[in-house]
Amino acid sequence: MSNRIHTLSGYFHEYQKSVTEPEKFWARIADSFHWKKRWDKVLEWDFESPDIKWFVNAKLNITENILERHLYTIGDRPAIIWEPNDPSEEGRTITYRELYHEVCRFSNALKSKGIGKGDKVIIYMPMIPEAAVAMLACARIGAIHSVVFAGFSSTALSDRVNDCGAKAILTSDGNFRGNKKIPVKEVVDTALENCTVETVIVVKRTGQEIDMLDGRDYWWHEVIEGHEDNNVAEEMDSEDMLFILYTSGSTGKPKGVVHTIGGYMIYTKYTFENVFQYSQGDVFWCTADIGWVTGHSYIVYGPLLAGGTTVMYEGVPTYPDAGRFWAVIDKYRVNQFYTAPTAIRALQAFGTEPIQQYKLESLKVLGSVGEPINEEAWHWYHTHIGKSKCPIVDTWWQTETGGIMISPLAGITPTKPAYATLPLPGIQLFVMDADGNKLVGNSVEGNLCIGFPWPGMIRTTYGDHDRCKQTYFSTYKGMYFTGDGVKRDHDGYYRILGRVDDVINVSGHRFGTAEVENAINEHPLVLESAVVGYPHEVKGQGIYAYVICDMTNRTEANLTNEIKESVTKIIGPIAKPDKIQIVSGLPKTRSGKIMRRILRKVAEGNLDNMGDTSTLLDPEVVEEIIKGRK
Ligand code: WTA
Repeated sequence: MSNRIHTLSGYFHEYQKSVTEPEKFWARIADSFHWKKRWDKVLEWDFESPDIKWFVNAKLNITENILERHLYTIGDRPAIIWEPNDPSEEGRTITYRELYHEVCRFSNALKSKGIGKGDKVIIYMPMIPEAAVAMLACARIGAIHSVVFAGFSSTALSDRVNDCGAKAILTSDGNFRGNKKIPVKEVVDTALENCTVETVIVVKRTGQEIDMLDGRDYWWHEVIEGHEDNNVAEEMDSEDMLFILYTSGSTGKPKGVVHTIGGYMIYTKYTFENVFQYSQGDVFWCTADIGWVTGHSYIVYGPLLAGGTTVMYEGVPTYPDAGRFWAVIDKYRVNQFYTAPTAIRALQAFGTEPIQQYKLESLKVLGSVGEPINEEAWHWYHTHIGKSKCPIVDTWWQTETGGIMISPLAGITPTKPAYATLPLPGIQLFVMDADGNKLVGNSVEGNLCIGFPWPGMIRTTYGDHDRCKQTYFSTYKGMYFTGDGVKRDHDGYYRILGRVDDVINVSGHRFGTAEVENAINEHPLVLESAVVGYPHEVKGQGIYAYVICDMTNRTEANLTNEIKESVTKIIGPIAKPDKIQIVSGLPKTRSGKIMRRILRKVAEGNLDNMGDTSTLLDPEVVEEIIKGRK
């Protein structure tokens, strides 16, 4: 039974049903999955605690819905098409049958290493098929995976290992990215100086020299030897944890967003099929990294639950040249292409010449995710990649939402550049003002909230439920607060305006200002710092850091470099500030609070009106900051 919507009136009809009878609506969708035991109740919820349960007491294994389900029907269909970094290296195509066997074999290997139900497993791997196999193998035995983006530093990695109490790390020797060979296992080794795990399993990818610790480190290809390539999937509860994914918030410490099995499963498949209008046999390509939620939901789980063919690309958009994405689209005849505005803007900068030699005729749908897409990039994408015939789905969602929340349905919902358009069925949106009032009607602007549970939503933040409550469920009573500003225009269409909290979205990656400040403050000469976002042509937002430091015997140039290094070491190169301004003071109120409004204005170059600065302790610093602006 297909739950695909085909027309605009069909969408409105389904939306209506999803709001008036949500339990009936989601039960119908859930009916099309394989459950080992059916639920007693569809939904139990309370946004106060918060406490959310979907498909209460139902039993299942998500991998049976990916593997067994497709084994006898579409066993020979490619599940994963893997494109390596270097175009001259041969890629890999893994059919559903092969995926079944690989996942079973590796999950048996994990079990032989004493890893089982409820254990946490960190996956710190490049974009290779083993990463997807690793995720599914964990899910198959009931272990909880936590994928850490392989660009994160050893410090960030050990923090996550410690936070979730991981028993094992699955990794690789190295990583090919563009013309670079990146050490991966070495980062793991450094991380393990500050944390312990029992087992490390290493995929041989680059063949570079690495250290292997006896009794802890094993090669993937050796560890799977002699294991059966089939098994029976562990019976899991619908509300058992599927994975933990760390993401930044407005405090210094990233939080582990927890997703549970049943709800996430039906939500990712449902949204995948409907938003992208995925038809059996189509080739879908999402360019995200599996280290982010987009990779979880739309490289691995959504497409594979739908029996789809998902492309996984190891490299970067500009290697060996700026035409690589288009080459891959032609090579595999990709039908749906899903990427981030930052990639579009970066490629736009190369002009249309790198596109000329490619046909791009297989494309049916283009997608955008991770940050607001500016109109110029939208039009470029539409005209030059979509040849003015492919609808663009601008999909708004978050790590916490598990799947797409606001988006056009491809080819069905009329689009408007830079608008995510309308909520998907089941998603009840509210625009709130600062005083907690619901803004009714159209042509309003405020904070985006969701007033009713949806199956893919966050259940808790790992190890700290109160943080989940405080961050998402306390700002507006009875509502999930997204942290985003939004406009509902005269047509009732939604346009996301960006974060209203202390989160900066750099190239579609989230960083908390406090998190970056902490990393900067690790430098021994730094006394204090304040970080804000500013508009950046390619990245969407760039990181602007104001730093007070001891300049004795140091030049500004070497200090800024050292500060950047410090951030690279603590978080990773992706969080490196774009601009660093050394200042002698920060604008603070008498109570000692930094007035970020002023810092943001200076970073944006919006110098005309600083607003009321009379409450500042030392108004002169504003002058100094303006003069020294980078
Ligand atoms: C932003 C990524 C505008 C938003 C899936 C959100 C977007 C944050 C869009 C979540 C979009 C994501 N238009 N803004 N289409 N998609 N965002 O957790 O600010 O990495 O809160 O999830 O990205 O980022 P996250």
